[in-house]
Amino acid sequence: MAQYNIGYFIGSLATKSINRTLSKALIKLAPDSLSFTEIPIKDLPLYSYDYDANYPPEGTALKQSIEASDGLLFVSPEYNRSIPGALKNAIDWGSRPWGTNSFSRKPTGIIGASSGVIGTAVMQSNMRSVLSFLDAPQLNSPEAYINFKPGLIDADGNVSDASTAEFLTHYMNEFAAFVERVLDASAQGHIGDPEPVEKAEK
Ligand SMILES: Cc1cc2nc3c(=O)[nH]c(=O)nc-3n(C[C@H](O)[C@H](O)[C@H](O)COP(=O)(O)O)c2cc1C
Repeated sequence: MAQYNIGYFIGSLATKSINRTLSKALIKLAPDSLSFTEIPIKDLPLYSYDYDANYPPEGTALKQSIEASDGLLFVSPEYNRSIPGALKNAIDWGSRPWGTNSFSRKPTGIIGASSGVIGTAVMQSNMRSVLSFLDAPQLNSPEAYINFKPGLIDADGNVSDASTAEFLTHYMNEFAAFVERVLDASAQGHIGDPEPVEKAEK
């Protein structure tokens, strides 16, 4: 069985983040073909293109972590109907300097938990726009909007509700299959070399 290294982003900096809790459940329920490495975002400075000529170590480390991953999983809250600023900042770091977009052709999944009933749907829609621009293929189905209620997942990532555990397992199986499909297509030459997506934006 092929093995894939998944870099994952937690979109929240909060110590009691429900999305960090969700990530623990996802890792537990994922198939054995996936291993996981968190890509940390909290120590990144706020991005400016002033840094492009001399990228700081935090920015370089982030790009290297993305590039070393076979696939990327974003586990994020929705803040004010959009992507949390810390996560968007990390994505901006990974997309630059111009011509070195680290996200290009990386298979991605987006999932999130919210205390509200829309379960991060608007954040995910915004993320799809960003990742499309960055030329990162995304798992389109299943979508996963998690309405997080106290007790749903414990601190160790154990899911108390059987139907939620079943759904998250299904999501991770589908994500693994998607990563494999994208990488297979890439290896067979069906997906060409990455191009800088910023052509129109320089
Ligand atoms: C700045 C801020 C904005 C928020 N905006 C939304 C929102 O747009 N939609 C939503 O469902 N929940 C929103 N919430 C509530 C979050 O779903 C809730 O705080 C959740 O715990 C955040 O995930 P986290 O614990 O992983 O940070 C917001 C919370 C904060 C702190």
